[in-house]
Amino acid sequence: MTVTDISRRKKFFAQGNAYVPHIVVIEKIIEETPDTRTFHFSFKDEKLRKDFIFESGQFAEYSVFGVGEAPFTISSSPTRRSHLECTIKRVGRVTNALHRLGVGAEIGFRGPYGNGFPLDYLQGKNLVFIAGGIGMAPLRSLIWSVIDNRDSYQKIDIIYGARSPADLCFRYDLDLWGRDKTINLVTTVDKGDEGWSGREGFVPQVVEQVAPSASDAVAIVGGPPVMIRLTFPVLKNLGFAPEQMLTTLEKRIKCGIGKCGRCNIGNIYVCRDGPVFSYAQIKQFISSEY
Ligand code: FES
Repeated sequence: MTVTDISRRKKFFAQGNAYVPHIVVIEKIIEETPDTRTFHFSFKDEKLRKDFIFESGQFAEYSVFGVGEAPFTISSSPTRRSHLECTIKRVGRVTNALHRLGVGAEIGFRGPYGNGFPLDYLQGKNLVFIAGGIGMAPLRSLIWSVIDNRDSYQKIDIIYGARSPADLCFRYDLDLWGRDKTINLVTTVDKGDEGWSGREGFVPQVVEQVAPSASDAVAIVGGPPVMIRLTFPVLKNLGFAPEQMLTTLEKRIKCGIGKCGRCNIGNIYVCRDGPVFSYAQIKQFISSEY
């Protein structure tokens, strides 16, 4: 796709009222865990379906008509364009309403918003993906994008943890990544059950044990705030500089387009300046606000 194509498509999506959603149709629903589902969906409008572009790490606002809207990252990869995916945990009014919908239901979609992961910066590097629970969703988009352009990157480590085996999302991806000889996949759970033969331990501890090299590497961290906060010092001890650590935040996003002022951390707006940040950009806020 040429630069002209990209700018033409961005212009196309910038037209009209930014608050009016496009209609998308749910095509498939995957039960990830007892409270988390991945929705496969496509635009109802043929032209939108063909022209829509986004970057790994960007998010969108999803609305259930008559209930409300909420922001979620796009969890599929821009390199796989047959449909879009988002992964949603049932935690409140909008997410409960989304979980009540079935295949064929129509929902609203505004986006994509925010920045994406900096592919230019990541290319040619060793990549260390570190995720907890549903925090894998944005990283998964990038992981598939990296796999689909495998020659542009060096070593891939993926460290993924959840509270229990039942809370691990994307098992079908974990299965494929585990069989890929070019990927070092480590999964862990806080507490295993009788069927679990893998590691036990919190993600930051496992990062310490795996000890990925910081040489020519970038670590991309996604998960609950406490996991992110505890993982950065471990990476720092392993030699990662603040610029070599990336994360994605979702704090208090409401409008998604820099208008409502709900998502600020210090002087940055998560929706407009992020949601992808380096630790260098957010380290002064991370302990007090996140
Ligand atoms: S969500 Fe409204 S300004 Fe960021």
